[in-house]
Amino acid sequence: MSEYLIAAMPGEEAPAARLAALIGASTAAIEVRAFPDGESLVTVPAPGARAAIYCSLDRPNGKVLPLLLAASALRDGGAREVTLVAPYLAYMRQDKAFHPGEAVSQRVVSRILSRAFDTTLTLEPHLHRTASLDMVFGAGKAVSVSAAPLLAKMIERHANDAERVIVAGPDEESAPWTEAVAKDVGAPWLVMKKRREGGRKVDMSLDSASDVSGMQVCLVDDIASSGATLATAAQILKRRGAASVSAFIVHALMRKDDLEKVRAAGAGGVYSTDSIQHQTNAIEIAPLMADALKRTRKA
Ligand code: R5P
Repeated sequence: MSEYLIAAMPGEEAPAARLAALIGASTAAIEVRAFPDGESLVTVPAPGARAAIYCSLDRPNGKVLPLLLAASALRDGGAREVTLVAPYLAYMRQDKAFHPGEAVSQRVVSRILSRAFDTTLTLEPHLHRTASLDMVFGAGKAVSVSAAPLLAKMIERHANDAERVIVAGPDEESAPWTEAVAKDVGAPWLVMKKRREGGRKVDMSLDSASDVSGMQVCLVDDIASSGATLATAAQILKRRGAASVSAFIVHALMRKDDLEKVRAAGAGGVYSTDSIQHQTNAIEIAPLMADALKRTRKA
């Protein structure tokens, strides 16, 4: 696989190198320089016939256009196959117009990426009402890796009394996923109820039949954005007598002050995968992504 290049967008050099090392690929940085008028000059390393770009799409607005320029430059340089490795894939949540006039960003962004890349590889995309990424990107144009085994591994590493662990999902939609994590851990599980009341406000509850008293509750979620879900859940669980509440998340987007609020609400530990570089990173996604990338590459 040595002719395979994993080119790193700015800031992604370290995770790209970890991934490249695991699949025997080479890695090099993509340079993005800003002109005085704000336009970007993108320069890519020389690719072989096949290449990937590593670019997690948190805070995506400033990243997408340089990413498209980079993909085009790799093809100009001779790459016949260009894959996007985007451990976090932005804009997947807006899968319909909830109010008149709203753009369906999931559709728009997936179309742009599927035209620019042969394949998009991502980890646990947030697909609310859509059954699979194929339906969003087109058949065979995207690969989604489940993060459930990674979360289970994090829980096993950080929860210190296996007998008292219970895995909790923040809402009913998260039930299949929460169950998958709990099964890997060998622990019981529950889901809470959640109604979003605004970008940074949620109303949550826990069924009166769910007994968490004295338990080590391991909250699992795919995304922590404002942190409101984790903070509200932690508060309720502590009030209901949980011995401890820890949060295990795939994609940590929270600002520092929001993370402090989650901790102040009672979450003793907050752990995330390194799909996005964040102070809560506790587990590497590289091995999982490497296996998926090997399977993804066209023969
Ligand atoms: C929602 O369905 C997701 O699973 C997360 O719970 C949500 O995106 C978290 O957002 P926030 O941190 O803003 O509450």
